[in-house]
Amino acid sequence: MTNLKKEIAKQITKATKLKQEEIENYIETPKDIKNGDYAFPCFYLAKELKKAPTQIAEELKQQIEFNSDIIEKIEVIGGYLNFFINKELLTKEVINNILCEKQYINSNIGKEKNIIIDYSGPNIAKPFHIGHLRTTLIGNSLYKVYKYLGYNTTGINHLGDYGTQFGKMIEAYKMWGNEYNLEEEPINKMMDMYVRINALCKEDEKVLANCREDFKLLENGDKYCVDLWNKFKDLSMIEFNRIYDILDIKFDSYNGEAFYADKVQEVVDILERKGKLIESEGAKIVDLEYAGISTPCIIQKTDGSSIYAARDLAAILYRARTYDFDKALYVVAYEQNLHFKQIFEVAKYIVDEKYYKGLKHVSYGMVNLPTGKMSTRLGNVVKIEDLINETISKAKDIITQKNPDLENKEEIAKKVGLGAIIFNTLSTANNKDQIFDWDQALNFQGETGPYIQYTYVRTKSILEKVGYIPKAEEINIQKLSDEYSQNIIKLIYYFEDILVQVTKKDEPSILARYLINLSKNFSIFYNENKIITQEEELQNARIGLTYAVGKILKIGASLLGMQMPDKM
Ligand code: ARG
Repeated sequence: MTNLKKEIAKQITKATKLKQEEIENYIETPKDIKNGDYAFPCFYLAKELKKAPTQIAEELKQQIEFNSDIIEKIEVIGGYLNFFINKELLTKEVINNILCEKQYINSNIGKEKNIIIDYSGPNIAKPFHIGHLRTTLIGNSLYKVYKYLGYNTTGINHLGDYGTQFGKMIEAYKMWGNEYNLEEEPINKMMDMYVRINALCKEDEKVLANCREDFKLLENGDKYCVDLWNKFKDLSMIEFNRIYDILDIKFDSYNGEAFYADKVQEVVDILERKGKLIESEGAKIVDLEYAGISTPCIIQKTDGSSIYAARDLAAILYRARTYDFDKALYVVAYEQNLHFKQIFEVAKYIVDEKYYKGLKHVSYGMVNLPTGKMSTRLGNVVKIEDLINETISKAKDIITQKNPDLENKEEIAKKVGLGAIIFNTLSTANNKDQIFDWDQALNFQGETGPYIQYTYVRTKSILEKVGYIPKAEEINIQKLSDEYSQNIIKLIYYFEDILVQVTKKDEPSILARYLINLSKNFSIFYNENKIITQEEELQNARIGLTYAVGKILKIGASLLGMQMPDKM
């Protein structure tokens, strides 16, 4: 669509000394549609001009020359300069673009920019539990949005597949391997072995020493240990992939921690050369006190083995070289805030400015289950797989109740159940904790995934009833000048801007809330306006708009990782 924001920025630029790009950055979409389509907050200029924002806004309003074919009017509200785009122009833009099957994204912000996203990263031989749900889904959605905007995007699953715990696993297998059939329920079995060996290590120093020895052997490439480690990894991946398959999530790279084990030495060498490594109680550390981080970053343990942080630093170096990234996102829980603060600080010694400035921790809060029946039913550590299966079965009950004759109930229940989980996970702002509650997440009337799916299905059934989709040139845009249609048109027009905001804040909840807003406005439109009428021009216009809403809902939902059923 034509970028009218650019047009407005151009006009403001003429009246101020700021650069157009800068102004474009400041321009917002007002929260309340009634306040216009774009707003320029004048307090950004207040300091420089030494004037009150309202006064600046008033003066700018006088100075800006506008073409009424583009801008209908400008109003000053508070310190904001609010722009109202010409209604007909906006309507034409939306109708022409959506009905012509053109690409609606016209900005080239993503062009030639490399983004890498590190997300999911479950730990081998440990359950894939709901603590990993948000990283997996937020990461997947960001991946899709960046890609849609034309960024060159790489998704990385930084598997937790290395560390001294594998020495323990190997020792446990040596001792009791024949007691456990790892092929059935591999992760549960491996967990049992791990718990058992840990208990034994506490009692028996000799066993602990053997575990350490096994880890050394693994590090040095001993065939027996490496094969075993591979077996643990392969078995775990079978379980993880079941979940990725059902969620339809793929990664471009599965290079986990183990991949970086032999790349840590270079990091140590660089830090050593720059005089940043200090010996402390036998370990090698980088002191970060100067940067206001009171806990030093440990790079190497007393016994010389590498640790999580060092492997992450090796990953930064490797990724800078391999992907030449402009931005590297780490979608990881807030528990690791300190870890990322530390390694991003140390990264300054290891990679060029372009790279360390591009590092960003996309931190998120916890997922909780409401206490009571639900948590007990799923157990203490809630596996993602169990949550998914339970939610799909609940969805099936609801669908069957609502619509007993529906065909393909299994398929639809899967989409609705997953839609409920995905939307519930993504509609909370990253930094907030969240609760997963079946009744809430599956409520067709609430602010939920199923509500968006239900709205989409409604658009579909209207189109099916009339049996045609009008062409853009068959639509008389005058017929869409009522308030309800206009609200929808504005929202559709904002779609691209919403996606840009998602990437600016790395916050899929912006898109989730937008889709709710669009769905609600469609419901109002639907209740207030007769779509199927005797008057052909009116019907064409409203059918066209209905189609447009369905299309944006479907694309938007797919960018969250949700699929739409055709019926429900
Ligand atoms: N395996 C880690 C965990 O489960 C997450 C890995 C995050 N990515 C990273 N590069 N550190 O907590």
